[in-house]
Amino acid sequence: MNRINLKIRTKIMLMNMGILIPVIIFIYIITINNLYSNVIKSAIDFLTKESYSTQLYISNYIEKDKKIEAEANFAKKAPLINTYLSNKLRFRIQMYDKTGESLADSVMNSVSLYDEDITNAIKGNKAYVVKKVDGHIYVLFSSPVLLEDTTLGCVRYVYPVDGGQELINNMFMIMGIIGFISIIISWILSKLFSGNIAEPIKKLKALSEKVAAGEYENKIEIKSGDEIEDLAETFNIMSESIKTYTETLKEEKQKQKDFLDNVTHEFKTPLTAIIGYSELIPRLEDRDDIEESLDYIKKEGERLLKLVEELLDLSKLGKTEFNVEMANNNLKEVVEETLSIIQPRLDKYDIEVIKELVDVNLFIDRDKTKQVILNVLDNAIKYSECTSIIIKIDIKDDNIILNIIDDGIGIEKQHLDNLFQPIYRVNKINCRNKNGNGLGLPICKEIMKKQEGSIEIYSEEKKWTSVKIIFKELV
Ligand SMILES: Nc1ncnc2c1ncn2[C@@H]1O[C@H](COP(=O)(O)OP(=O)(O)OP(=O)(O)O)[C@@H](O)[C@H]1O
Ligand SMILES: [Mg+2]
Repeated sequence: MNRINLKIRTKIMLMNMGILIPVIIFIYIITINNLYSNVIKSAIDFLTKESYSTQLYISNYIEKDKKIEAEANFAKKAPLINTYLSNKLRFRIQMYDKTGESLADSVMNSVSLYDEDITNAIKGNKAYVVKKVDGHIYVLFSSPVLLEDTTLGCVRYVYPVDGGQELINNMFMIMGIIGFISIIISWILSKLFSGNIAEPIKKLKALSEKVAAGEYENKIEIKSGDEIEDLAETFNIMSESIKTYTETLKEEKQKQKDFLDNVTHEFKTPLTAIIGYSELIPRLEDRDDIEESLDYIKKEGERLLKLVEELLDLSKLGKTEFNVEMANNNLKEVVEETLSIIQPRLDKYDIEVIKELVDVNLFIDRDKTKQVILNVLDNAIKYSECTSIIIKIDIKDDNIILNIIDDGIGIEKQHLDNLFQPIYRVNKINCRNKNGNGLGLPICKEIMKKQEGSIEIYSEEKKWTSVKIIFKELV
């Protein structure tokens, strides 16, 4: 079966018309019917009254002449009485004897319109029929003519209800016009009302399309005071929830991405050491040096394993963040350890390291700090094209500053502020290793923040770059 798709507005209008039109037709039929029976009833009332005075007139008239037998007398005087009555009443009058034979008719040579009202009247009862003749309605009312309880015949009024007919016709027309106007008014009103209902629904539809397209900012304002207003309210709450939900999802996604970046970067420290020492070992001759390098590889391998385990634990707990394990550590030792990890690469590029280190104890995460120092040294090797690096520990007021200065190509001023933003890289064609991700410095900043410290970078183009890793003196 074919489905007919109608707009809500059309449906409302059709529904209204579907109710209104039958109601109007019903009222129309009832009114016309009522009017018709009223017209007939008043005709009957009038004729009944008239029949009494006719009866009186006839019986007086016949009684005067007692010489002739009553029946014959009635037959004889019927034409006269008939003329008198029809002149008086000004409509057709007929008279019949008791066998139903016509005695007189005020309209000669016309159809007698004989009907059962006559039969009934002869039997002694007043009776009528309503008949349509030549497009006119007539009440054919017959009343018996009585003389001392015997029926002599009957007198019949052929009463036209033309006046009533006209009234009915007029009424028919007026009601038709009223009905038509009501339908038109109702059509206009339904159009307005249905528009009022359909408009907010249209608004809702437009908004839901926007929400479907991912625009959650729009709110809908409907003040219709009905269920649609409630619906709009619920819709606003729903789109707000979706908005919050998607934002949470985005945040969650970003967190996971940050976490992954952190994890991969953290893997870099042990891997750099392992690769560096593996490259170094074949070139070593001294047994002890080889042993020492192998020891480093083992230690860093274990560190890598620890990291993987930590990662698995975090994943089990559903966490997306590494914790810092603060402990009492000697910064000089931490720096030395980091240097030994990166030593093979420093050697590879012939970079001299000048150390100005002092013993200072700090409350820091050993591995994370190593990760920070390693990234700074790694950057110097990869990008600065330096020949020497100075690493020194300065103590200033409450701060312990680990300053790493290279004599490389430096960084343009315009880039300095952006270096701590994720994925920011200064595009250098001649850098030693271009496969950085631009995540090192943002992660260093994050780690230092967690340790209550900070990291700053200064540079003069073509001369030097200085990275200051600042710790709070906590111990
Ligand atoms: N000492 C330096 N000399 C010159 N440029 C540097 C120096 N240190 C950092 N940079 C520039 O800063 C950018 C950002 O460094 P960052 O450590 O954040 O990322 P990366 O080293 O490129 O990638 P990743 O550390 O994730 O491997 C580098 O791409 C480099 O262009
Ligand atoms: Mg880096």
